[in-house]
Amino acid sequence: MIYTFKLSGENLNLSKFEVETLFKTKCTRRGKIATCNLTQAPKKLKEIADRSALIKKIYKNGVKVWEFKQGRYKLREPMARPAFHPTGMKPKMARMLVNLTGAKKEILDPFCGIGATLIEAGVLGLKVSGSDYDPRMLDRTKTNLKYYKIKPKKIFKADATKLSEHLKKNSVEAITCDPPYGQSSTTSDKNLRNLFRTFMIEAHKVLKKKGRLVIIIPSKLKIPGLIPKVHGGLTRQIVVLEK
Ligand SMILES: C[S@@+](CC[C@H](N)C(=O)[O-])C[C@H]1O[C@@H](n2cnc3c(N)ncnc32)[C@H](O)[C@@H]1O
Repeated sequence: MIYTFKLSGENLNLSKFEVETLFKTKCTRRGKIATCNLTQAPKKLKEIADRSALIKKIYKNGVKVWEFKQGRYKLREPMARPAFHPTGMKPKMARMLVNLTGAKKEILDPFCGIGATLIEAGVLGLKVSGSDYDPRMLDRTKTNLKYYKIKPKKIFKADATKLSEHLKKNSVEAITCDPPYGQSSTTSDKNLRNLFRTFMIEAHKVLKKKGRLVIIIPSKLKIPGLIPKVHGGLTRQIVVLEK
């Protein structure tokens, strides 16, 4: 059955990729409209759409069958969470990152901060693990997860550039993170490029085959062979890598 999706978001290719990942299909896109052939029953289709971050409306034969509910993230906005930090990510962005990983069972955020991605993943019913090298951030994550009644699998102190000392190789289904980018959040004592490079090599070790790393990267960073060259004036980009 052919469905059309009205997309939102700054990068519509990413929005299309969210649809493709959630519905396990390929779409074509013209502007904000993506079209795809779906086999899911209507009830299942709505359930999947409810998980999305970037779909605005869905139509079947020109008739609207689903619409984004305003205020969906209100209870989890940064100021609504009990533990706050200025680097805390907004829930819609966190939801998008989680969705782009395509995780079905569990997810890890090795720069978890106050736990924004873990909250969204937990709300979706995924098992969540988080680490950070700052114990104060880990306390914030624990407070927030408890508040939203999410029981994490594991919250632990770790330098993300040494992730494989804490986790078995080929053991993690999906990773998403927003590492520091050298402005308001700390960068530890390594320089930014080394931090990203070393972390990405570690992430590759612990990820299962076909597992995805969805990571926010400062556009100024150039790591040939690891991070594709970015065009345009964006300050940060979202990169999806699959093992
Ligand atoms: C931009 S913040 C993460 C924001 C997070 N997505 C949130 O919503 O709170 C970056 C986090 O990375 C942590 N961090 C910095 N360097 C690290 C390292 N080498 N290993 C692990 N965590 C690190 C910081 O303590 C901080 O919590």
